[in-house]
Amino acid sequence: MKRRRPLIVGNWKMNGLVETAIELAETVCRGLSERERRSGLPPCDVVVAPPFTAIHAINQHHGCALMKLCGQDMSANPPGPYTGEISGIMLRNVGCRYVILGHSERRERHHEDNALVGQKCKAAFRDGLLPIVCVGENLTHREQGQTLSVVAAQVDAVLDVVNGEDGGKLLPKLDQWVVAYEPIWAIGTGHNASTEQIQEVHGFMRERLAHRLDAATADKIRLLYGGSVKPANAREILALEDVDGALVGGASLNAQEFLAILDALPGEA
Ligand code: PGA
Repeated sequence: MKRRRPLIVGNWKMNGLVETAIELAETVCRGLSERERRSGLPPCDVVVAPPFTAIHAINQHHGCALMKLCGQDMSANPPGPYTGEISGIMLRNVGCRYVILGHSERRERHHEDNALVGQKCKAAFRDGLLPIVCVGENLTHREQGQTLSVVAAQVDAVLDVVNGEDGGKLLPKLDQWVVAYEPIWAIGTGHNASTEQIQEVHGFMRERLAHRLDAATADKIRLLYGGSVKPANAREILALEDVDGALVGGASLNAQEFLAILDALPGEA
């Protein structure tokens, strides 16, 4: 049994039209219901992040209480003249409970920096969403021994913005914050980080959170690992002490693989 309730998130990225997305969501939901009938409620929170265009349809269609919906990004701004952007309130309106922020594909290709990710995280808390903030080093950082300092700066930037908000009004919400450690060199490459590398960074993040916040809050924040998680490596990754779940890209596009990752949680058959 894990200390914190595990969380498994499927990040579908820019894949799927409405019909195929509904089908995938339905297959995952059916698998969850079967598991519920067999052995009770899944011992984790299950979340999927479809492309924006399919979220509403899935929400209308699936009616599956066992699976929550998630946005893949959101604007830091309130509704207004921001062409092409999606606000947190809009995500809530179509049934999302979570939102992924600062994914490396957005940091690298859309030039999102730590300060912007912090602003987005603050906006998500304000809009009643649970932010899943991605952090992680690239290969050069790792080779130059900068992994921990890069991750620290990414975590600190969010804490600085959230802390600075109206005399710490949002601080109590940090209990529900989720951080996903995703080494960039492991995303979509088929090469996951080793269990030693993962536990080192997760342990470091937990200590950093305790130092910046307090031990009780740090103990509640869920830390996910992401980067080529698949059924074959999920069991050893999910068993690590400070790993509270996974952010799954490629393998989440196949319902059976995604469900097999849930089955790999400690305590599961
Ligand atoms: P991957 O993606 O599982 O395909 O490596 C993970 C992610 O980008 O969140």
